Amino acid sequence: MAEKKSEIDFLSELEKIKEKRKAALRTSEAAAPKRGERVKSGIDGLDEALGGGFVKNSVIVIAGPNGSGKTVSSMQFIINGMLKYDELGLFISIDEEKRPMCENMRSLGWDLEKLEKEKKMVFIDYPHHEVEQFYTQENTILNLIKSMGVKRVVVDSAVPLALVYEKEDERRVGMIDLVSKIRRWNCTTLITCEDKGKAEISQGMPSTKYEIESVADGYIYLYNLYREGERKRALEILKMRGSAHSNKLIPMEIGEGGMRIFPKKRFDYRDA
Ligand SMILES: Nc1ncnc2c1ncn2[C@@H]1O[C@H](COP(=O)(O)OP(=O)(O)O)[C@@H](O)[C@H]1O
Ligand SMILES: [Mg+2]
Repeated sequence: MAEKKSEIDFLSELEKIKEKRKAALRTSEAAAPKRGERVKSGIDGLDEALGGGFVKNSVIVIAGPNGSGKTVSSMQFIINGMLKYDELGLFISIDEEKRPMCENMRSLGWDLEKLEKEKKMVFIDYPHHEVEQFYTQENTILNLIKSMGVKRVVVDSAVPLALVYEKEDERRVGMIDLVSKIRRWNCTTLITCEDKGKAEISQGMPSTKYEIESVADGYIYLYNLYREGERKRALEILKMRGSAHSNKLIPMEIGEGGMRIFPKKRFDYRDA
């Protein structure tokens, strides 16, 4: 008898999760951005590959394994915003604290502390023990975006935000809710996310841990592929609603100044 009850509990719990997921998906779709206006990343080669830049106010997932360039490329999007297009950007770092992040970025030629002091970017960090505050400070973030006139945002990364939820199903729903919340900011937003496991080109579409890309407007994947004693970087645009974008695996480099991609060059599988 007790067993039956727990089975019923489990099924009704599952139904509730399914309903929550459906409701979250409806909200997310209703707030999808309008096509047309573009927001340039300013990253060499990327805007060309995107068909002119990101759709204004769209929500894009940047995924890839550790060290693939998610933080570097998304920071570059924020820095270029102000330096090249006069658009203020907000970088929200989840888990990784400001100080080590500033140190790491120095080798790329970026002085984040100086940019922040000169009000050329806004940086908020939620260290490991404060991640939950991201959710409780939702209105504070929204007010900051509105009052400062922020136009582009990065959330780096979504994984610790998913881990706030206990169960796997709740994490998936939580990620759909996150995208809905971010849409209300009315900013062009990049969300970084680690991938599910080993991604190889031949294995089809790589996906992220909680499949946040399924509700985002765009999905870019960064590879760091190992072949014959060396790693080669590449970028692939897997989804970009409303854009005629590149379908190729594009060679990529990281160095002084950040990321560069080469849409006209062929990524040779034998080299990769
Ligand atoms: N100054 C630099 N020159 C060349 N490569 C760099 C430099 N700084 C960082 N990198 C490369 O970028 C990687 C870090 O990228 P990052 O964006 O932090 O990865 P992710 O966020 O995907 O984990 C480093 O592991 C290194 O390979
Ligand atoms: Mg990172």
